[in-house]
Amino acid sequence: MDFKQHIASIPGFPKEGIIFRDVTPLLEDKDAFKACIDDLAAHAKDLGVDVVVGPESRGFIFGCPVALELGCGFVPIRKPGKLPRETVSKKYDLEYGSNEIFMHKDSIKPGMKVLIVDDLLATGGTVEAAAALIEEMGGEVVGMEFVIELEELKATEKLSKYNIYSQVKY
Ligand code: PRP
Ligand code: ADE
Ligand code: MG
Repeated sequence: MDFKQHIASIPGFPKEGIIFRDVTPLLEDKDAFKACIDDLAAHAKDLGVDVVVGPESRGFIFGCPVALELGCGFVPIRKPGKLPRETVSKKYDLEYGSNEIFMHKDSIKPGMKVLIVDDLLATGGTVEAAAALIEEMGGEVVGMEFVIELEELKATEKLSKYNIYSQVKY
């Protein structure tokens, strides 16, 4: 399936100089959404994944169905003030702005094989911080999957030690 035809591009959102790549048309099309999740799961099926980790909020949309299809659990990465139990956290920079992500401290057990799923790879700041947290807890990041990769930001260079799959590149 040509996933690109289901992604909208909006110049100037959320600010000048950014072309926003919007996955909501893909989500609205049941066949495209199903094909997208099936493809992400197929690319991870031989990695021995124990758990899928997805960053709030668009990472939840894709990470949860991939976890169900792989037959494993899902661990959310959340923004500040959302997780009720003891957390670990990391600050990171975005293509626009900066943020801090949190995970429950007991969510990843030593030796767990972890697949990170998100809608989009831009600077790589989000998943780099996510991987650092997972590794601090003793997990092994066996793969990172995205619907969209923004190639000009060259995130794969700083993430070169990871196994990365992106469905659509701009
Ligand atoms: C967007 C996108 C990725 C991240 C990619 O999330 O969904 O998670 O930015 O950028 P990076 O590779 O430079 O880290 P955002 O934080 O805007 O929030 P959202 O998912 O809640 O919309
Ligand atoms: N997150 C970071 N950069 C983005 C972009 N260009 N489009 C959509 N989401 C993003
Ligand atoms: Mg996000």
